[in-house]
Amino acid sequence: TGPDTVSPTGQPTGADQARMAQSGSSLTNAQGSRLPDTDHSLKAGPRGPVLLQDHHLREKVMHFDHERIPERVVHARGSGAHGVFRSYGTAAGVTKAAFLAEDVETPVFVRFSTVLGSRGSADTVRDTRGFATKFYTSEGVFDLVGNNIPVFFIQDAIKFPDVIHAGKPHPDREIPQAQSAHDTFWDFVTLHTEATHHTLWNMSDRGIPRSLRTMEGFGIHTFRLVNAAGETTLVKFHWKPKLGVHSLVWEEAQIISGVDPDFHRRDLADAIEAGAYPEWEFGIQTFPDTPDQTFEGIDLLDPTNIVPEELAPVQPIGLLTLDRNPSNFFAETEQVAFHVGHLVPGIDITDDPLLAGRLFSYLDTQITRLGGPNFPQIPINRPHAPVNDMLRDGFHQTAVHRGVAPYRPNSLDGGCPFTAGADMGGYVEAPVRVPEATKVREAPESFADHFSQPRRFWLSMSPVEREHIIGAYTFELGKCYEQAIRERALQVLANVDPELCAGVAAGLGLPAPEPTEPLADVEPSPALSQVGHTWPTD
Ligand code: HEM
Repeated sequence: TGPDTVSPTGQPTGADQARMAQSGSSLTNAQGSRLPDTDHSLKAGPRGPVLLQDHHLREKVMHFDHERIPERVVHARGSGAHGVFRSYGTAAGVTKAAFLAEDVETPVFVRFSTVLGSRGSADTVRDTRGFATKFYTSEGVFDLVGNNIPVFFIQDAIKFPDVIHAGKPHPDREIPQAQSAHDTFWDFVTLHTEATHHTLWNMSDRGIPRSLRTMEGFGIHTFRLVNAAGETTLVKFHWKPKLGVHSLVWEEAQIISGVDPDFHRRDLADAIEAGAYPEWEFGIQTFPDTPDQTFEGIDLLDPTNIVPEELAPVQPIGLLTLDRNPSNFFAETEQVAFHVGHLVPGIDITDDPLLAGRLFSYLDTQITRLGGPNFPQIPINRPHAPVNDMLRDGFHQTAVHRGVAPYRPNSLDGGCPFTAGADMGGYVEAPVRVPEATKVREAPESFADHFSQPRRFWLSMSPVEREHIIGAYTFELGKCYEQAIRERALQVLANVDPELCAGVAAGLGLPAPEPTEPLADVEPSPALSQVGHTWPTD
């Protein structure tokens, strides 16, 4: 869809760029007509009425009136940066993705975000952080739209509107703006106990990162890689910060929210400007692509599960360096549109039901947020690969398409585009067997265990991290108005661990309940603790 004035790297050139950059020496109106004055409306005399015929006034104010676009329905507060991804080539045996071959460099744009707060909310609130990466590969765009917490609240995307309704400010008073310290949040996560694992990570130090530069990132879902021989491997994607994983303590986070609400945004931009480029190693955990899609008894299609690194080590496959700040926040950080369906040959999805819903949701929301179906033409979203997609017209179309036959095959346009099979670099979905089944609205039995993974997380924490977790639950639940919700939360915690439950109960001045089911027999995973975190190894 690219217009004629787009360079091979996807950037506008020539007159198009000059117009976009507002670079002429004389002030003009939007039609390029030079203006003698932009400070005074046209009037019938200096003290007379303003004239309707003043088109400059009308155009200037009209455009200002339309400067805002809707903020993202989630992840509204974000900070972006450009960079480069250098592949080590160590994944070449499991994927044919060209950008993961040895020594390939790929431009990237990364957007970090909080989930619940609005665009103007503070950076250091307790929340999950988004970690979305757009790889402009030679085979098209690959987006990895992940978070800094490796599990999600829910197992099925059909509950996403519900969990977000519960997490966003109360509909009556529109408070709290950006935190989970309120009744609807705790009501939801205690009634939907699959949320226990993610909530525990939120209440841990991971919920208040020290810097965006010291956060891990996770693709969360299990993905399927395909190699040149057509063999498939299941994987989980990880980002490991070279600076190590570091968090704030709660008192720091609260003070910074007041003193410098832009703390994370400023830190990222300042570091890049000073040449202290943040780096993350990209890694994969690999699992055999067996028909049951489990590993060591862990259901790989359940996004509330991790696979401990002790069972499946993270293997480094490349290095991400962020080295350039955006020059225009709106054009880059605000207009960027990530999508889990933006895949390249060699990377495929799995049947995780949360991932399935995401494949629809992002496109739907971006049609509204970015004003129609042509947002892939916005410079930050343009692939750095040739585009020949037969899509035409629509709101905000900026391309002048050639030819009369946007369909194929055709005999009018002097040769129609060929379609590329896998041998010509085409994206061919992995031919995965779909089991014979009956249509049902239900979850598999393996999705029913909501406590053993949270228990593993708790058991993996050092004493100071446990203290912080108890403090966080106490603070957040202390903000609930409904006593019944606090009591239900304690019941959930009793099923995770008695020490955790007793600590929070003491903080809230309530009795600690007994567990309603036997405590899971799980081994700790030292890699989960920030104190025990051993990456990077060099
Ligand atoms: C936005 C991550 C689940 C709907 C985002 C963003 C991230 C993210 C990082 C911000 C992207 C940006 O910076 O522009 C995740 C992760 C999920 C998850 C890691 C689970 C593993 C879901 C689900 C849905 C959903 C289940 C809906 C069914 C959205 C929407 C946006 C969004 C509508 C706004 C996109 C935009 O306006 O461009 N998500 N999300 N997400 N997410 Fe998710």
